Amino acid sequence: MGRLRLLIVAVAALVICRSMTPREPVNELSFKGDPQTQEQLGEKLFFEKKLSADQSISCASCHIPSHGFADTVAFSTGVGGRRGKRNAPGCTNLSGRPYLFYDGRAPTLEDQVRFPIEDKLEMGLPIEKAVGRLQADKKYVALFTKIYGAPPSQERLEGAIAAFERTLETSHTPFDRYMAGDSLAISASAIRGRELFMGSKTKCFDCHFSPDFTGDEFRNIGLYDGVKLKDTGRYVITRNAADIGKFKVPGLRNVAVTAPYMHNGMFRTLKEVIEYYDDPYKVVPKPINMDTLMAKPLKLTAEEKLDIEQFLISLTDDRFVKK
Ligand code: HEC
Ligand code: HEC
Repeated sequence: MGRLRLLIVAVAALVICRSMTPREPVNELSFKGDPQTQEQLGEKLFFEKKLSADQSISCASCHIPSHGFADTVAFSTGVGGRRGKRNAPGCTNLSGRPYLFYDGRAPTLEDQVRFPIEDKLEMGLPIEKAVGRLQADKKYVALFTKIYGAPPSQERLEGAIAAFERTLETSHTPFDRYMAGDSLAISASAIRGRELFMGSKTKCFDCHFSPDFTGDEFRNIGLYDGVKLKDTGRYVITRNAADIGKFKVPGLRNVAVTAPYMHNGMFRTLKEVIEYYDDPYKVVPKPINMDTLMAKPLKLTAEEKLDIEQFLISLTDDRFVKK
């Protein structure tokens, strides 16, 4: 079932996207001149430092475009040099997600926008003030009026950024070309890695299913022990004891360029992640509430570990591959 669905969606996505040219990896606006659409206005706002208290931080400061819109450090720096508490994940392939953030506290991309703007460790600006700054800026008033027929508002600010984020769906990957029938698009190692990823030996696909390799569920992979690892994850939102240590299963497209990994950025490389899954207890001896899928060491061979890594690398969109 899962595989068939995956194949159908991958092929459909490929057909749709063939007509569009992938964007170059840039850490600046992808268009020249003034934004003409909601998406472009949203992109401009994504890079807008005015949306932070001291005008030093934009969304792109932590969600770096060339790194799959993720940060390269475990904990990002926000206004006033403050350190965040979780790792900034990538912002690609989020349009279908019913939960955002590791604890799922935002249900839509629109709703998500105000959190980083208001977060004292991130942009540190009350949303009304952020909107007020746009309303006091003649250029933005003109742009919003041209595109929305109305001046800046919280709703339109959130709508524009969300519209931009929805353009960040990625399917120009070796993996998608392989699924569409190009048997040479990925290496023999990556093909073996795919089989392992889907199979019962690793059970990766039990949690990382669907075309974006997330089932949008919350699971506990053993990264909470109440002593050194104290982020309780989903529990903070639901206050249900069964949710202690559960985090949103992240999608895995472009994961090769979004290091470091996990909610706390504790793994620097995909190799470290795969070593962890091979035997979680070696890294966290006393996890609390860990998923039963993780209970036994996988006993992967060195080659199998490399194969899984190669498969994960094959999920990288062309725009993020350094030429
Ligand atoms: C100071 C760093 C920082 C800034 C600035 C920042 N973010 Fe984030 N972002 C994060 C971190 C850290 C998380 C994960 C937090 C969590 O899960 O609790 C995150 C999570 C997200 C997510 C959820 C991703 C997912 O897979 O659930 C989205 C979407 C997002 N940010 C978009 C934005 C937008 C839009 C802006 C600008 C308005 C922004 N971020 C500004 C650090 C930042
Ligand atoms: C029980 C469900 C489950 C299983 C099984 C599972 N994962 Fe995960 N995976 C998760 C969750 C939940 C996270 C996020 C955990 C966190 O941030 O603390 C995650 C995170 C990851 C990440 C890091 C992503 C990022 O952006 O930080 C990678 C890579 C990954 N998994 C790959 C795999 C591979 C490969 C396998 C099989 C060997 C696998 N997963 C098996 C649930 C699972």
